[in-house]
Amino acid sequence: MGKEVSLFEHELAQSFDREVRCVSSGTAALHLALQAIGVSEGDEVLVQSLTYLSSFQAITATGGTAIPCDVCSKTLTINPVDLEAKITAKTKAIMPVHYGGGVGELDTVYEIANRYGLRVIEDAAHAFGSTHKNQLVGSFGDVACFSFDGIKNITSGEGGCIVTADRAVIDAVSDSRLLGVKNDSQNRAVNKRTWRPKVDSQGWRYHMSDIMAAIGRAQFSKIGEFVKKRKSHLRRYQSNLINNLDGARMVHLNDEVVPHIMPFILAKHVDRASFIECMEKSGVQCGIHYYPNHYLDYFDNNSVLTVTDALSDKIFSLPMHVDLTESDIDYVCDALICNLKKFDI
Ligand SMILES: Cc1ncc(COP(=O)(O)O)c(C=O)c1O
Repeated sequence: MGKEVSLFEHELAQSFDREVRCVSSGTAALHLALQAIGVSEGDEVLVQSLTYLSSFQAITATGGTAIPCDVCSKTLTINPVDLEAKITAKTKAIMPVHYGGGVGELDTVYEIANRYGLRVIEDAAHAFGSTHKNQLVGSFGDVACFSFDGIKNITSGEGGCIVTADRAVIDAVSDSRLLGVKNDSQNRAVNKRTWRPKVDSQGWRYHMSDIMAAIGRAQFSKIGEFVKKRKSHLRRYQSNLINNLDGARMVHLNDEVVPHIMPFILAKHVDRASFIECMEKSGVQCGIHYYPNHYLDYFDNNSVLTVTDALSDKIFSLPMHVDLTESDIDYVCDALICNLKKFDI
């Protein structure tokens, strides 16, 4: 970690108008942010079950417990009614996940957090570049964590960052990403390091390397083009499919979203595995975002989550990345429409 990381952080900070700390992954960003706000054994963090494994593992890495919550059916973001019902004396934080890049009911999440005195760690891994009420995600709110892994809206190969206006969180993560060595981050920026470390807290080897930061900076310089392309891909999918979704529906992503994935939900009678097989035969690879975390042995707490349970084997994602062309999207949409017809009842 050296000058490139410091420059990348500076460039990101200018766009968020907040301080930024870069780390080795989005998972590391979540873990360090949770540790920085004091989540530890006995604490509960409310998070939607329908998210990448990282959100859950970051919580359990602190010793805390992930409490799976349901999602809103339209946006697949955390359901405020369900989350409020799950608040207990042990609840320390809420982790809304910006599914697909959209923030869903984020204002209500913050209203609830304020009412109960809870911290909010936004899992904004999908949402780099998205805005909410014309404000960049990460530039408002409590703490936001982004991922720069290989398929995200910008990539540094692997990487992530923490954005917040909370000085204490910035100071804590500056040290905890460097094995807990106090005040060594700023030395690294000028090609120095301490040989007599002061350590009084648990740290991790989660810093970002200069190589990753150099890739991240090159990517960030193209963010305008990436935002334009992803948004225009979303619009093309929407206009191609809006009247042709026989048996499927799109997850709602509004005009402010820079989509990271292109999620769909199949009708009840359609078997997902067979449908995805048909798409693959048509030359279109599909993803599944996600297998709910409350089905996993490590987290199982026997939750019943009405919307998540109903959608869990109906969700799938179509291709979404900047190198798609308009004719690629038209091809994918034709394959989708044609394959849906095979499942007509
Ligand atoms: C919702 C969500 N949270 C967290 C992460 C973790 O990011 P990373 O892969 O950089 O560790 C991801 C990455 O895919 C994600 O999709």
